[in-house]
Amino acid sequence: MKIQIINGPNLNLLGVREKSIYGDSSFESYLEKIKAQYSDVQIDYFQSNKEGELIDKLHEIGFSYDGIILNSGAYTHTSIAIGDAIAAINTPVIEVHISNVHKREAFRHHSMLAANCVGVIAGFGLNSYRLAMEYFVSQ
Ligand code: DQA
Repeated sequence: MKIQIINGPNLNLLGVREKSIYGDSSFESYLEKIKAQYSDVQIDYFQSNKEGELIDKLHEIGFSYDGIILNSGAYTHTSIAIGDAIAAINTPVIEVHISNVHKREAFRHHSMLAANCVGVIAGFGLNSYRLAMEYFVSQ
């Protein structure tokens, strides 16, 4: 099984950025833990701050992987283009968020991506990614 995790803008600063919301762990150290936990799954990781690069990655792997765990950061709330890319590919996508976006500002309540995703997991800290992994491995 091949799973791609994709993180969007500002998520390269996890562990540094707004720790009261996003926690104090870097994504790289969390990734080591999740890889050890799912050692029989190929887990690839990509992060970009650029909308077009996120779309290119979805196109590149979206016809050959078994699942995509996508945290598009703020592009979640704005990007018709990422929503269209999810609709264009075959691989199922789960939208994840570290924070509970529904408890936050109103502009974070809407997703331009969710309608094209299998589901949305939000508010469980970095565990949101593990919960998405659980869905894919249970398929
Ligand atoms: C986020 C929530 C978004 O609203 C925000 O812009 C982010 C991170 C989350 O993981 O909680 O950058 O996607």
